[in-house]
Amino acid sequence: MQGIYEQTAEAVALIQEKWSGKPKVGLILGTGLGDLSKQIDADVRIPYADIPHFPTSTVQSHAGQLVCGKLRGVPFVAMEGRFHYYEGYSMQQVTFPVRVMKALGIETLIITNAAGGINPQLDLADIVVIEDHINLLPDNPLRGVNDDRLGVRFPDMSAPYDRELKQLARETALRLGIPVAPGVFVAVMGPNLETRAEYRMLKTLGGDVVGMSTVPEVLVAVHAELKVLAFSVVTDLCLPDALEPAELSKILAVAAQGGERLARLIPEIVENL
Ligand code: HPA
Repeated sequence: MQGIYEQTAEAVALIQEKWSGKPKVGLILGTGLGDLSKQIDADVRIPYADIPHFPTSTVQSHAGQLVCGKLRGVPFVAMEGRFHYYEGYSMQQVTFPVRVMKALGIETLIITNAAGGINPQLDLADIVVIEDHINLLPDNPLRGVNDDRLGVRFPDMSAPYDRELKQLARETALRLGIPVAPGVFVAVMGPNLETRAEYRMLKTLGGDVVGMSTVPEVLVAVHAELKVLAFSVVTDLCLPDALEPAELSKILAVAAQGGERLARLIPEIVENL
């Protein structure tokens, strides 16, 4: 049977047929956060359906293509549309694009997501620089026989989010006048949002933001020895005693506001890596 390593090689071969660039940085765009991809000087946009072993996106708010080109002169690849475990994909499928971007040559992975704000100090459209995470997902992309060509059996998680990249993000945000807060991201499976009792629990556990993505990709990125920087946009306020019903349309509208900030912040970070 073909393993992830061989599947990755096939996906890379197809991409390299269409694009001769060697990306230094990869980006995963979260729900409603696609604005940034407009700033990429795209050489080619490859629909996921054309890439061997790539899952195809089922969520309407995600376009489902790999954008290859340059961002501020830096060779760059961006996933417009990501995969979530709640859609029914395996963890290996959810994280396959990270393997592919690594094999294409990226050294740094930037991840964005839409998340609920658990910390009561957070406001709608705030940007959180993810400091650390708590993984409450029921499965793990690294489960199974380890392929030593991809990474070690027991990846260290003492610092999954690169210290220097976080520092660069904070300094850049300050210079641009974009407020950012550090925070702990909690990953849950979804697709339902949380009950008031669950938000209370997540706050007690030490979470600042909660979402249904990112952690699988981070685990695989760390396994692959990539440097990771991740941002949440706060799209709904998870205040257990004043909780309003969540509406996808509202979440997407707020994501667009935060996305506009990230679209100013991230290119500036990439330029100064
Ligand atoms: N919970 C989980 N995932 C989310 C939320 C939330 O409140 N908001 C956006 N993604």
